[in-house]
Amino acid sequence: MWLCLAITAVLGGTILHKLKTPGQLGKKVVYLAGLWGGACLLSLSLFGGLIFLALSCFLIYNYFSGQALLPVDQKAVLITGSDSGIGHALCKYLDEVGFTVFAAVLNENGSGAEELRRTCSRRLSVLQLDITDPEQIKEAHSKVVEKVQNRGLWAVINNAGIIGFPADGELIPMTEYKRCMAVNFFGAVEVTKAFLPLLRKSKGRLVNVSSMAGGVPMEMLAAYGSSKAALTMFSAIMRQELSKWGVKVSVIQPGGFKTNISGTSDMWDKLEKNILDHLSPDVQQDYGQDYILKLRNFLRFLNMHSKSDMSPVLLDIWHAVSAEHPFAFYAPGRGSYLFLCLASFFPAGIIDYCLKKMPKFGKTMPSALIKPN
Ligand SMILES: NC(=O)c1ccc[n+]([C@@H]2O[C@H](COP(=O)([O-])OP(=O)(O)OC[C@H]3O[C@@H](n4cnc5c(N)ncnc54)[C@H](OP(=O)(O)O)[C@@H]3O)[C@@H](O)[C@H]2O)c1
Ligand SMILES: *[C@@H]1O[C@H](CO)[C@@H](O)[C@H](O)[C@H]1NC(C)=O
Ligand SMILES: *[C@@H]1O[C@H](CO)[C@@H](O)[C@H](O)[C@H]1NC(C)=O
Ligand SMILES: *[C@@H]1O[C@H](CO)[C@@H](O)[C@H](O)[C@H]1NC(C)=O
Repeated sequence: MWLCLAITAVLGGTILHKLKTPGQLGKKVVYLAGLWGGACLLSLSLFGGLIFLALSCFLIYNYFSGQALLPVDQKAVLITGSDSGIGHALCKYLDEVGFTVFAAVLNENGSGAEELRRTCSRRLSVLQLDITDPEQIKEAHSKVVEKVQNRGLWAVINNAGIIGFPADGELIPMTEYKRCMAVNFFGAVEVTKAFLPLLRKSKGRLVNVSSMAGGVPMEMLAAYGSSKAALTMFSAIMRQELSKWGVKVSVIQPGGFKTNISGTSDMWDKLEKNILDHLSPDVQQDYGQDYILKLRNFLRFLNMHSKSDMSPVLLDIWHAVSAEHPFAFYAPGRGSYLFLCLASFFPAGIIDYCLKKMPKFGKTMPSALIKPN
């Protein structure tokens, strides 16, 4: 038994130490090693131990074969929402390792676009692309076709996204639900449809940046979470349909990175006014002005509990783009993998309980629920 445990520890430790793999892979190895150690402990017999040893070796071998990365070879990739945050960092990263990057930005005259032009190699081109505007999609498509000629486009990374104004589902205005859907879902669908012919030709990669909130029900995120859940499901169906064309599809479900997605106070002012303008007087009275004005703390809270080091997402997306056999799902970020597992495999009561126990952004209750003392 001790021998088994020792081998597990050494094996797991070495693999983790040696391989700078994307988070997902590292985690799987840890779980496998843990599983194996536990099984060895339970079995307590040489025979059982040997069986588990063989089994784990087989599983680990299976994970690592086909994890080889394809050569970069100046392959062309398109990234939407490159103005800031994950998309911006990803452009710089993929440019640095040698890809030909098409950085699609919401504002070609903005500071993000300017910085990409200034700091990246000459392979990188900045494209104007509001993913909710069909005209701009067409224009970006013809520019990409013209630039790549017959080298083809290897990958499209649907990254552009908005979070909207987090609030109770009852308070979020319809305009806000529709805006989230327009960017996070229909935008990604339309971009994908436009570029799929190029991807089918290259047997390339499609990567959608969804969110942990697309798989884990989280309070205040009714509009955002639903749009991301739609994206996640669509991607899973595309994965099945596109496999016959040789196109591999991956979904990234990050959780908790410090980016501009949490917006500025100007933006919050506008969205808050939008909510107040659309509420009927009795709903407004039930929730109370005080409650509604404190909603903006949620974004501040999210940002405070987020990590500023984006390398786990970048590594995972890089893996999805370059690995011979990329995974269908990646969950970089603190707790993302754990929460997604909880939400997928356990009774609803468990995830509800866990989320209730998490630190809260405020103890404010709707005024109709506060008992007069
Ligand atoms: N940060 C996290 O913790 C986290 C967690 C889960 C999922 N995600 C997802 O990761 C992706 C990237 O988010 P981020 O955190 O990097 O946020 P971000 O800094 O706000 O980046 C999103 C980018 O999308 C752009 N964009 C917004 N609307 C667009 C449109 N209609 N057309 C084209 N581009 C548009 C934004 O442009 P502007 O800057 O000009 O607005 C911005 O550059 C999003 O899909 C988000 O849902 C993030
Ligand atoms: C947020 O946007 C500002 C300017 O719009 C930019 O300077 C900053 O780098 C962005 N932050 C991130 C994390 O992308
Ligand atoms: C960027 O600036 C150019 C030239 O001033 C202008 O034609 C273009 O419409 C601007 N683009 C955006 C998205 O504002
Ligand atoms: C991304 O989602 C869109 C629809 O939302 C879908 O058309 C596309 O195939 C998906 N791509 C990937 C890589 O998941």
